[in-house]
Amino acid sequence: MADLHVVILAAGKGTRMKSELPKVLHRAGGVPMIEHVIQTANALHPRSVTIVIGHQSDALKSALSSHSELSFVVQEPQLGTAHALLTTETALRGASGTLVLLSGDVPLLSAKTLKTLIDRHESAGAAATVMTAVVDDPSGYGRIVRSGEKIARIVEHRDATSEERAIREINSGIYAFDLDGLFEALRNIAAENAQREYYLPDVIALYRQRGRDVDTIVVSNVDEIRGINSRVELAAVSRIVRQNKNAELMAAGVTIDDPSTTYVDPDVSIGPDTILHPGVSIEGRTTIGGGCEIHSGVRIIDSRIADRVTVNNHCVITESSLAADVRVGPFAHLRRGAVLNENARVGNFVELKNTTLGVGSKAMHLAYLGDATIGTKVNIGAGTITCNYDGMAKNQTTIEDGAFIGSDSQLIAPVTVGKGAYVGSGTTVREDVPAGALAVSAGKQRNIDGWVSSKKRG
Ligand code: UD1
Ligand code: CA
Repeated sequence: MADLHVVILAAGKGTRMKSELPKVLHRAGGVPMIEHVIQTANALHPRSVTIVIGHQSDALKSALSSHSELSFVVQEPQLGTAHALLTTETALRGASGTLVLLSGDVPLLSAKTLKTLIDRHESAGAAATVMTAVVDDPSGYGRIVRSGEKIARIVEHRDATSEERAIREINSGIYAFDLDGLFEALRNIAAENAQREYYLPDVIALYRQRGRDVDTIVVSNVDEIRGINSRVELAAVSRIVRQNKNAELMAAGVTIDDPSTTYVDPDVSIGPDTILHPGVSIEGRTTIGGGCEIHSGVRIIDSRIADRVTVNNHCVITESSLAADVRVGPFAHLRRGAVLNENARVGNFVELKNTTLGVGSKAMHLAYLGDATIGTKVNIGAGTITCNYDGMAKNQTTIEDGAFIGSDSQLIAPVTVGKGAYVGSGTTVREDVPAGALAVSAGKQRNIDGWVSSKKRG
């Protein structure tokens, strides 16, 4: 196999998105569309991956800064796709073999299909191989004009005659090129067209004139080469990404009540016999074990959920970890750093942040537990609040094993409630409570007889 180099075009403005955000950073099925393309490129283990950026290049560069394998080339101004590829000449100086050109706005292409293109290109020894597709609605795309069997040229929609517009075979914008002579050819492309741009597809006619061999490969699944130019197209592609993910999960034993309303990001993993009810959103790098039940309206982001966990309706769970047999919700909010150990239970209107709840401990109603370490078999009464913020710093609360916190208590951190201690209902705990002790802070109750009727007379 020849050396492989990948170039991804992403310098265009994406005018039709009407967005402040660079087009290729818009999310398709939960992941920025360019990430899909980079993943596909990397799957082929190329010698280099170069991204051509231009419009909002700084935003793009910083969004992709975790990819140390990428080289960036800035195209400024953006004079068309041929010009974009030409800007990589210096970066690719001395390279030989095959150059694969991808578009940052065509995210559904699979590594398998791309591999087929490369194999075909290299075994035919062509100067260029164009990936094409036959579609029902070719409008907007470049059309493949053939003379006999062979591709003669590509004509852009805007420049096409009505006869050419009737052609349903389109240019996917994905090509394999022999690097030998490629940049020299690109320099010979003119901008004589409706947009006054240097069109990369024009290299095909140029090669044919020069008698170099150009091949095509027709992709069978046209979804793979869908380009995104507008938000309507973005939504359509997102739907396909989701459908593929849901199909993969169901094949692996996950029950999805209503796939059309179930949003699972591509990097999420879910174990068998877990049930996803309608309207759930599982995002980022979340992992969910087997035998879980996730009820409607739940959103889980970057979290680890073990086996047999039940998440009741309308919970939001972010960067948290739930051990086996935990039950949460409905209406619970688990924020960054919530750790629920085996059999712990969190009920309705309970918020946890940076808090560990021990094995079998419960906070069933209306509580805020922040920056707290809570032992095993602890009972947190309704309305309990850890007052973790003193206006300047966040402070820790420790509640040891078997403690009982009565309803409507405030724990003024930093503070510790010892093993097995009781906090009476409505207590404001300002000092540590020793193990086994009872803490009460409210004054003695006073009853005023006949008060109501005396008030009403007045
Ligand atoms: C392009 C092809 C068309 C094909 C279609 C497939 C050209 C002239 N036309 O049209 O034949 O059917 O893709 O989706 O190539 N870009 C740059 N620099 C530029 C211009 C564009 O980097 O100066 C990038 C864009 O960011 C985008 C890609 O190149 O990622 C394609 O550009 P776009 O303007 O979307 O081309 P299409 O009109 O879709
Ligand atoms: Ca496009």
